[in-house]
Amino acid sequence: MANILVAGGAGFIGSQTLLALAQDGHTLTTLDNLSNGFADNVIVGDFIEGDLHDAQLLDTVLVDRKIDAIIHFAAFIEAGVSVTNPMDFYDNNVAGSLTLIQAMVRNRVRKIVFSSTAAVYGQQDDHDLLHENLAKQPINPYGQTKWMVECMLRDVAATGDMEAICLRYFNAAGSDPDARLGERHDPETHLIPLVLDAARGVRDSISIFGTDYATEDGTCIRDYIHVADLADAHSKALALLLGRNETPGTPSAGFYDAMNLGTSRGHSVREVIETAKQVTGVDFPVIEKERRPGDPARLVADATRANKLLNWQPQRSDLKTMIADAWRFRQNL
Ligand code: UFG
Repeated sequence: MANILVAGGAGFIGSQTLLALAQDGHTLTTLDNLSNGFADNVIVGDFIEGDLHDAQLLDTVLVDRKIDAIIHFAAFIEAGVSVTNPMDFYDNNVAGSLTLIQAMVRNRVRKIVFSSTAAVYGQQDDHDLLHENLAKQPINPYGQTKWMVECMLRDVAATGDMEAICLRYFNAAGSDPDARLGERHDPETHLIPLVLDAARGVRDSISIFGTDYATEDGTCIRDYIHVADLADAHSKALALLLGRNETPGTPSAGFYDAMNLGTSRGHSVREVIETAKQVTGVDFPVIEKERRPGDPARLVADATRANKLLNWQPQRSDLKTMIADAWRFRQNL
């Protein structure tokens, strides 16, 4: 078992992954600046409040805690916000990650699993399922920042100093089985939590951003994936990296891979809203609005690479289950 640093472990996917890593028997340290996360999401392991730009803190943590590997979730994630506020995304997501990578190389911490995103693909009109090898053409600064970090990791891995796996998540949803850890962003911008807030009467209505996309019902299609399935994939990616013991600096030590985590099944915004009405038993007003800037029409994964390389299959990612789990969490808020 290993000493793992989880950067951004106080967030939605990070906190869920901590539970999976604890089950695997790892010793865990979470580093999070709480800009979007919550300290009480860190149910297992130690918590340090701190920022990835703080190179000195990173050196101390990596050395004192004898860190073997890092899982890096710490990033701003709202695609829409990145369009209006790009510099914050470049600073936090790119400069923060560079500082972390430099600290890793300086301290000979070699293994990293990085949270990437379907947003690296952008609009791909000719492909219903997105394969990892497609051209990366993000249409928002968020996706661009994640792609830039993937490139940094790939290039550093090629020197033999690092081994990296980038996991490109599609749309995370659900909560843990005990409904303790779910999506709670402030302000919330994501579809499922907002729909559920309409169902519980915290919002008057839900807006559909764009009904004129070239999709079956005119609304955007996303591949929703249960957060517990994402956590399982991190545990498996980490196991794959930890099982590799090549000599640093040799070409084989520069292992690098990027894979999609999704179900290969897409759901439209209208479908999400209708399913939420069924699951909650509540009807609520739906308002059709203009498109939101930076939204690709369709993002659905070809996940065969992760299925094979990680021996990973989603277990809880049908839409009703994800919305039911998210609903239990949301009602507890
Ligand atoms: N949407 C609405 N109304 C809302 C909120 C969202 O219609 O009130 C629509 C959006 O326009 C989009 C879809 O619902 O078409 C999903 O939007 P989200 O904001 O829930 O999620 P995104 O697809 O924009 O982005 C999310 C994560 C990213 C990740 C991406 C991968 O925020 O980190 O999924 O697909 F990269």
